[in-house]
This record gives sequence, structure tokens and C-alpha cells, in this order.
Amino acid sequence: MLGRIWISLGAFVLVSAATRAGALSAELWSDRSKSPDTRARSAVAAMTFEEKLSLLHGQLALPFLGKMMPAGVIPAAGFVPGVPRLGIPSLTETDASLGVVNPGGIRPGDTATALPSSLALASSFDPALAYRAGVLLGREAHSKGFDVLLGGGINLARDPRNGRNFEYLGEDPLLAGLLAGEQIRGAQDQHVVSTIKHFAINANETNRMTLDARIDPEAARESDLLAFQVAIERGRPGAVMCSYNLVNGSYACANDWLLNQVLKRDWKYPGWIMSDWGAVHAATDAIHGLDQESGEQLDREVYFDAPLRQAVASQSVPAKRIDDMVFRILRSLFEVGVVDDPPKLSSIDVTQGAAVALTEEEEGAVLLKNEGQLLPLHDALRRIAVIGGHAQIGVLSGGGSSQVTPSNGQPIKLPIGGQGFMAEFRAAVYFPSSPMKAIQSAAGKAEILYDNGDFPADAAALAARADVALVFVTRHEMEGYDVPNLKLPNGQDELVEAVAAANPRTVVVLETGNPVAMPWLDRVGAVIAAWYPGQEGGPALANILFGKVNPSGRLPMSLLIDEAQAVRPRLPNHGSEPDARVSIDYTEGSNIGYRWYGAHNVKLRFPFGYGLSYTRFQYSNLKINPGAIPSVSLDVENAGARAGADVPQIYLTSLAGAACERLIAFQRIEMQPGEKRRVTFSLDLRFLGHFNSSAHRFIVPPGRYQISAGHSSQDLELQGSFLMRRTTI
Ligand code: BGC
Repeated sequence: MLGRIWISLGAFVLVSAATRAGALSAELWSDRSKSPDTRARSAVAAMTFEEKLSLLHGQLALPFLGKMMPAGVIPAAGFVPGVPRLGIPSLTETDASLGVVNPGGIRPGDTATALPSSLALASSFDPALAYRAGVLLGREAHSKGFDVLLGGGINLARDPRNGRNFEYLGEDPLLAGLLAGEQIRGAQDQHVVSTIKHFAINANETNRMTLDARIDPEAARESDLLAFQVAIERGRPGAVMCSYNLVNGSYACANDWLLNQVLKRDWKYPGWIMSDWGAVHAATDAIHGLDQESGEQLDREVYFDAPLRQAVASQSVPAKRIDDMVFRILRSLFEVGVVDDPPKLSSIDVTQGAAVALTEEEEGAVLLKNEGQLLPLHDALRRIAVIGGHAQIGVLSGGGSSQVTPSNGQPIKLPIGGQGFMAEFRAAVYFPSSPMKAIQSAAGKAEILYDNGDFPADAAALAARADVALVFVTRHEMEGYDVPNLKLPNGQDELVEAVAAANPRTVVVLETGNPVAMPWLDRVGAVIAAWYPGQEGGPALANILFGKVNPSGRLPMSLLIDEAQAVRPRLPNHGSEPDARVSIDYTEGSNIGYRWYGAHNVKLRFPFGYGLSYTRFQYSNLKINPGAIPSVSLDVENAGARAGADVPQIYLTSLAGAACERLIAFQRIEMQPGEKRRVTFSLDLRFLGHFNSSAHRFIVPPGRYQISAGHSSQDLELQGSFLMRRTTI
């Protein structure tokens, strides 16, 4: 089917006579041996003004307000017509944060690998896995006819109620930056442009279109923007998607500071900035750095069509800016290989995809508690009670534009409803990967009993008759909505209390898009944070529960006892009218998450970086090799009886004499029982310094720096220090 609707990219049609290439010959942009810059420059020179303008705005490629898409367009998130006479392909854009999206099932029968939530990827602390996930996303997008992938979500978790945290990579700029960079690199190696999004400070969903995110600019450079900076250096994404919200009073997609000064001037970003869908407010946004309007039907006007033409005619937008905008798009298309290796329709490799989804959940689930070694479960159990979470049918996924139609069977959708234009699309989607069935096949002869958990008394009675009770609890979270608090909905806390009272051998599996409060923690035996576990969630969780896989996930976000501990105890702007202008002062600045909790001596339920294993790891012999760029090394030993993976973490605890807490290095390592290994960490000096706005640089002040190595941000066992000269980066 897709064969018919795909607009052929075709071979190059070199109509040099029709071009206005001047001295530049047509061969330049078709010549693979030339640099992306040269090719893009020559193509721009050959284009008419109308051709240029048509590349600068794109549609939501879905029927919208009764209007159908032009024939031949793949129904998906976006479409920008190309310039066929020059061989410039159309941009066919798909959401693909967690898998290639088929929005609302508009492409009948088209499925994709549905990966776990990005929080699971972040919990793996595994850049190599992020690269593998990126390759998978890129490959599947390419084989479905897409050349632009709207992924790379990297907004730092400033609020544990943000409805989109499940799409992002946690609260730390180094972790998020390295993983996003690797994922983008993996995707683009398949010749599909990846975005990085949403630029920037898009940390809450409540009133996201009118929210003014206020933050000290230097603090932003040391946190949210540093995450983008690291990821952009590593992954070289072809496009950056600017966000809906305002930042310090200006819309992010018209924010001169963010787009022109930080991204294009300071970081020398060569790619293009595309808007989020419905995030453009004027043709003159082009002067402030925006290069392309996306999802134009969602804006009040198609600003980058007639209004932009008018703005150029009246010289309120310089004509050379139009060339720059087009150049940036084309340059990325040449650099990533979209022009030379256009998408080829083929079926996806379902088995290969499933393997990545399985590994991601196996590495990403975090074992939070395991009293008396309740886990792993052993074969001799006679009766296992499985309770709640629709565990008999599947695992929950997060909602919104990242929602994937999984490749392993029909998902189950429970409509949610509500107000507004998104209401009819709101649904809690369960992927058909039943933990109960996977537990049944891992459990051998044990009898599996199931109760849906609606009546805690029934569930407790069942649990009392079992050797162990496995309670699955869920909380649906989605784009466009923050959750009001850290609680589990629908009486699930009471359910866990009742089950634990009936059987202390209770294991709780959390399927949530953020960490949640666990008022019952002291009464249960074990807890696993599974996040949204993806389409292979059932088997992945069974493998962990029964010890086929040794858990190795580490928390990418601090886990609070309750919201009273949060920087903002109440969800900001909760209950505002949807179009009301609102704001949040992110007063914590660069001290997001553990950095803030550490500075305020908040005793967390579980700290950032924390996670248990079925084995034990010991650290010794910390050494610092001082120098212009210091490096750190230590011995790691697997002191237990099982193979497993560990993530030793290095934190900066004093910056030229000033106390702080910053993750400055980490490494995930697989180790055999008894194995001892020396691990060396190299440091990125920006994480040792402060950003200085007048110098446009990071400055590492002279003085003594203290570091600690440990198992989490609040379990630091080895200390060391070194001297630094003043350094600017
Ligand atoms: C989301 C983006 C997404 C776009 C296209 C927007 O509402 O914020 O993340 O890529 O829609 O679907």
C-alpha cells in the first residue's frame, strides 16, 4: 500500500537550463564527493524563490478539519513537498521517539517495534544500547518511506509530574545528553534525519502552548541546554525542533536568545530549526532563528507561505535569510544521506526489533527493593498470585504523539475522554505482552492465580493462598497533560496495602511514566520500577522476576517520598483555563533533581543513580590523574555469585571549594562473578565549570575539586580531589 502513496524521490533530473545556478553547475549538488555545504549551496542557487518558500513550511500529513491530504502523501506527522526537478526529496516526517508511529491507525495494518519508555533507556545508563535503539528507529522509519524522524526528546525532568517525562531521559544533563546523542547518531546512520526536541525548557505540559518557562540563562546553559549541547555534538541531528512554550517571555520558536545566539552562534549548529506542530506565531519568527514551520494547519495562518513572501517583499525579513533557511535544510539532507540513499519500502524485521525492545526493558527496569532476597523467584513455588494492572492482557504504554502500534499483536485501547480537541484521541493503550502469561511460562509447574485488583479484599484473599503475590500497578501519563500528584490512581495504593497485609511476600511492579510515591513501601518485599515496558514487557519482566536476567537499571530521576519534597510541592498552574497565559519560575536553576535535593538535604525515598542487583559490586582504589583534562579510575569488583551489570558513578562534590553535586562520569559494565576490573572515566570540563554569559563560555575556576565515586547520588563511598587551573571552554 505504501508503495502507491510514496512520492518517488526519483533520480536526479538535472535541468540546468531551467536553473539559475549561475556559475555553479548542477553537478555540484548531485556529486557525492562534494561536501554537504557545497552541495547545499549549489542547490539553493538553482532554486526559484517559490521553490525555496515551499521547503519552509510543511503540513500535518493527516486529514484535518475535513481537509484531506494530497494524493501520494504518506499519512503521518508531517510532509514538506520537495523540488523534484532538482532531485530534492519531499520531507516525509514521522514521530518516532519510542517507535515509528502510525497515528490513530491511519495506515491500516502498519505496525512498528514499540520500545519501552525513554526513561527505561535512561535507566540503562547504556549509550551503546541507545545507539542500537536509534539504528532500529532509523531502519524502521526508512523502510516505511520516511526520511525525517521526530525523535530525540531530551527535556530534563524538572517536575516529576510532567506528563511527557516518559518520552525523555531523566533529570541529568550528562546522562540525557550522551544517550540522546547516541540514539540520534544511530538513527541518522540509517540515512534518516533525526530531530532533537523540544528546544527548550519544555518541562511541564499544563498549558504548554501559553506557558512562560522562566529561568536564569546561565543556569539553563549548565543544565537543559547543556544536555542539548552534548547530544548535538555527539549525534549531529539534522534538525532541532523548538517547543511550544515561551522561555523568559518569548516563544521558544521565536526566541532570538535560544535560536540565534545559543544554537546558531555559540554552538555553530549547521542544521535547521523546525517548529513544533502549531508553535509558530509570525512570519518574522524567521528573523529570530526559526527555519521551518511544521504542521501549518495548526497555526493561525501559514506564516511561512504568503506572510513570509510579503515580509521579504517589505524587507522585514531579509531575502538572504530565506537562502540560509533553505541551505540549512538541504545541508542536513545531504549530510545525513537522505538525498543519496532515499527510503526504500520494505517490511520491518520484527524479530530484530523485538530483541531491542526486550533488551531495553531488561536493562532499564530498576529493582528498588528486595528484602530477604525475595527475588529472584525460585522454581519450587507452588502458587503465584498475579494481581492488577491488566497483567492478564499486557503492559501499559504512555500516550500522545509517541504512541506506537506494536508489531506483536493487537493493542487494547481504553478510551479516556475529557475536554478539548485531543479528548477523542486520549486512550490508555496496553501492548499485548501479558506479564501473567510470561510468568506462567517462566514458572514451570506453579499454579498462577489472577485477580484484577478491583476489590482489594478479593485480591488479598487470593494473595493469602499463594506463596508469593505479584501486584502490577499502572498510571497512564501522556503528552498534553501533567499528572496532579505522585499517587497511583484508582485505589491502587489501597490494593497494595491489602495484598501486603495478607502476604508479606508481595512484589510490586510499577508501570508508570514517572517515579511515584509508595506509601506502602515498608510493607512489601520487593519493588520493580518497570516504567512503560514496551511491547516485550511481559517476557522482560518475567526474566527479571525469575532471575534469567539480573536487574541493572539505575534511577534516572530522584524518587521522592511525596510531593511535599518537590521544588514546587503543588503542580504549577493546575486547573488553569487551557488558553490562559501562565508561567513557572524554575528557581532551582541548574540544580535539577538530585542536585537540588542534595543541596537542601532532602532525604529521598530512592536517589538518582540507585538500583539493586542480584549480585554486589564493590569499589576501591580511586585514583585521579590530574592535568588539563583530569581522568579518574577505580577498581570495580563483582563480589557476588552472579554475573551482572553495574554502573559506577563519579560525582563532583566541590567545585573550587563550593559544595555541589554533579554527575560527571559513569560507565555501565558487565561483570562475571568474582571479576575485578579497573575502570577509567574521562571528564568533560564543562561539567566542572560555570557558564559565563559575557564570555559565552564555560569557565572552570582555579582551585581544589573534590569528587566521589559511588553507587548513587546519595551512596558515595570513595573520595578524591585534584587542583585545576582556570580553564575556559
Ligand atoms: C509534539 C511533538 C511531535 C509533533 C508531531 C507535537 O504535538 O509536541 O513532539 O513531534 O506533535 O506529531
